[in-house]
Amino acid sequence: MKGLFFYSKKKGKGKMQERLKNLKSLAKERIENAKTMEEVEKLRVEFLGKKGELTQILKEMGKLSNEERPIIGKLGNEVREHITDSINSKKEIIKEAVLNARLQMEKIDVTMPGKKYKVGKKHIISKMIDEVTEIFMGMGFSIAEGPEIETVENNFDALNAPKDHPSRDASDTFYITEDILLRTQTSPVQIRTMKKAVENNELPLKIIVPGRCFRSDSPDATHSPMFHQIEVLVVGVDLTFAEFKGTMETFVQKLYGPETKTKFRPHNFPFTEPSAEIDVTCFKCGGEGCPVCKSEGWIEILGAGMVHPNVLRNCGIDPEKYNGFAAGMGVERLAMLKYGIDDIRLMFENDVRFLDEF
Ligand code: DAH
Repeated sequence: MKGLFFYSKKKGKGKMQERLKNLKSLAKERIENAKTMEEVEKLRVEFLGKKGELTQILKEMGKLSNEERPIIGKLGNEVREHITDSINSKKEIIKEAVLNARLQMEKIDVTMPGKKYKVGKKHIISKMIDEVTEIFMGMGFSIAEGPEIETVENNFDALNAPKDHPSRDASDTFYITEDILLRTQTSPVQIRTMKKAVENNELPLKIIVPGRCFRSDSPDATHSPMFHQIEVLVVGVDLTFAEFKGTMETFVQKLYGPETKTKFRPHNFPFTEPSAEIDVTCFKCGGEGCPVCKSEGWIEILGAGMVHPNVLRNCGIDPEKYNGFAAGMGVERLAMLKYGIDDIRLMFENDVRFLDEF
């Protein structure tokens, strides 16, 4: 850089004036071209620092005459001020540019549509269980549970199933040993609950039992080897068929709406006498006939009946003093009807839409 100031033929004041002028214009140009704070800071040291050009020039003022010195001193000060000002304003400009760039980067467009986060919802089987449970809890029922691995005694014998009942067959039931199986229904929890109630002197009772059941069925549109049932059991004194019917009708109307009618169709279960299958008027077409009810106007939704005296007896309850009614329903079936699902297997394929769209 020095070279720039070297070749002046002038001497004394004139030479120094020229050097200061050159310094001023050089500093102006370099400061203007600087892009970063670091660069500007470097230039400050270079032009104004102790070892800088301006200091150098001013040091040489001693050589000037008394008249020349104040003129160059004044000019030197002006140049220093000028350079200082340019540096300061350049620093301001850079500071603002940096800030603007940052603001630009961090800019949030509040008009952009928000991101939709998927929130997990309950599977329709859980929702169906919740719905049924809530209705019965509103009628004073409490929830009971039992193990999925059961005894043959609780699952069949105590429920009055004949020794040769086809449901006992190994082609229908998953046996673990001769005496232990995966429960095929939630009905064994009736036995467990009644025995416990006798033991703890807790009769009468009103329970519902949601739970998983297992049958050795090949999966198809309406069968799954694992499925869910909800059992209903009431044991009390002098319960009438009318109370049984009333309870079931209330449940059905809470589930499907007050217009829904019920039909008790005679049936046969080992653990109830009399037994019935309960049909409801189709909640889709109201009974006129549609694909949901297969044009029949009626849909079968549960099995039920008055508890068989043998079952009470098997639990240590005197059927002369107590009686009861019971029901059992398939949760998948209820959900398939309600949500129009035509294949039970869809519910167990981990399709996230089952947690999302219902
Ligand atoms: N356990 C029966 C089944 O799996 C359903 C059932 C019918 C349960 C009648 C009951 C009942 O409690 O009373 O098919």
